Amino acid sequence: MDTSFVKTPQIQQLLDKAAGLQESGGNPRLKAIVRDLTEALMALIVRHDISESEFWLAMKFLGEGAGEIGLIVPGSGLEHFLDLYMDAKDAEAGRSGGTPRTIEGPLYVADAPLVEGNADLSSDPDPDAQVLHMTGTVTGPEGEPVGDAIVHVWHANSKGWYSHFDPTGEQTPFNNRRRIKLAPDGRYAFHSRMPSGYSVPPGGATDQLMQALGRHGSRPAHVHFFIEAPGYRTLTTQINFGDDPFAADDFAFGTREGLLPVPSRQGDSAYIAFDFQLQRAATAAEQGFSARSRAEAG
Ligand code: DHB
Ligand code: FE
Repeated sequence: MDTSFVKTPQIQQLLDKAAGLQESGGNPRLKAIVRDLTEALMALIVRHDISESEFWLAMKFLGEGAGEIGLIVPGSGLEHFLDLYMDAKDAEAGRSGGTPRTIEGPLYVADAPLVEGNADLSSDPDPDAQVLHMTGTVTGPEGEPVGDAIVHVWHANSKGWYSHFDPTGEQTPFNNRRRIKLAPDGRYAFHSRMPSGYSVPPGGATDQLMQALGRHGSRPAHVHFFIEAPGYRTLTTQINFGDDPFAADDFAFGTREGLLPVPSRQGDSAYIAFDFQLQRAATAAEQGFSARSRAEAG
């Protein structure tokens, strides 16, 4: 059978009713999206002749994997797609320049300690890890220092686990997480214990999906940033270590050209110099964060 089955009056009427098109209440935009989504799923079922058993296996996966949805989305390429879509819309609007955006990932925690000066991000010892020293500037489109920026930084520990999400329970809540308030010269500096690459929790939904696709669930070692400042567009980005074995094979598609510095490793220390450039905000909303729900320590 071909997908024209979905276009028969019987199925089209079912779709109209299921999306509430005949009801006066509800949200018209949501109705239109739900109708298209359901129709696309129906067409998918026909195109691949998905059986009842296969369909319910997929529902079971989604139900049981719901807690890992924030990991499945980057692994599926959808989170990177959102970046590519925003980039394409920017290009269409004639907006360019600045540090590339890349995925936030699921592991940010709000309200990390707000610090100034050369910040130490690591509250926990992690004795076998090198010390990472990262320095640079935050400037605007004309190269002007962005003095009242807040740089949110978060990264994994040397075992690849993030505080707050660490199944070993070994980390204090904001280990390797800070908000750094910049001085008027727009310079930032911090040091911390070197992160290792991250892998999805073994045996979890994302791991199962990756194995079924013949893929892995690993990322190169990386450091995440949000940079916010009045008048500027909030930047969501991360640097991935250019010399990591997974730098060219990131399961979450978060590595991007221009965001792959190679740490200079010297004895017990490693150094990265990296400058950020922000775009001006076109709207008040661009100065804020997306409405994504994020973890809070508590
Ligand atoms: C995932 C983990 C990360 O640390 C990240 O930056 C992006 C994605 C994940 O588990 O999917
Ligand atoms: Fe991450």
